Amino acid sequence: MMINKNNFIIAIDGPAGAGKSTVAKKLAENLNFLYIDTGAMYRAITYKINKEKIDINDKSAIKNMLTKTRLIYENSTLYLDGNPVGDEIRSNEVNSKVSTVSSNKYVRTSMTDLQRCIGQTTSCILDGRDIGTVVFPNADIKIFLVADVSMRAQRRYKENLEKGMDTTFSEIKKSIVERDCIDSKREIAPLSKANDAIVIDTSSLSIDDVVSKITNIYLEKINV
Ligand code: DC
Repeated sequence: MMINKNNFIIAIDGPAGAGKSTVAKKLAENLNFLYIDTGAMYRAITYKINKEKIDINDKSAIKNMLTKTRLIYENSTLYLDGNPVGDEIRSNEVNSKVSTVSSNKYVRTSMTDLQRCIGQTTSCILDGRDIGTVVFPNADIKIFLVADVSMRAQRRYKENLEKGMDTTFSEIKKSIVERDCIDSKREIAPLSKANDAIVIDTSSLSIDDVVSKITNIYLEKINV
């Protein structure tokens, strides 16, 4: 039997720097699925909070700001209030605040609703922290990517260098460790592996290796 769905969901969760977004983007291109970078959504909200000089702990100001915020995905591009989101959401300032902002209940509910709304009608690959556990607990495929922390920091450091961003390896490693800690310990939708997720350790694998592993899982699944 061949599964043919118009809203096939692949959830890719895992800690910062495990390779989720690069892998998810490539897979989405190959399979012609919509790619949704859920981390970028939390980053875009954090960026706006920063820009509007709102205190990251001021829940009512954040709630008020969200009611006036338009966040949409179109052709795999995220738009914040009509403008395509770029590398401004990857700054050190956003890095240092995004985990606190994403532990805000109202922020999480809004982002989760938006993600579910898109996934109801479209086949997509979502990468994040809580996709397989909370956003789409019935996802067709759940992957949990992990990698050694030094390796994750090394990859981010290389990416930043390529983008001309000025951060040291030790700053990046520290920021990754801090974010993992807040993301895993938060009360709502913490970073955790779904019971039925397939774990892939990417420490010694290339992007193409990981993409082909997940592609094989997908092909097996649709050809049941
Ligand atoms: O994937 P990323 O590093 O760009 O994510 C940035 C932050 O957003 C991450 O530290 C925690 C938060 N996040 C989340 O809470 N839930 C998600 N589904 C995705 C990201």
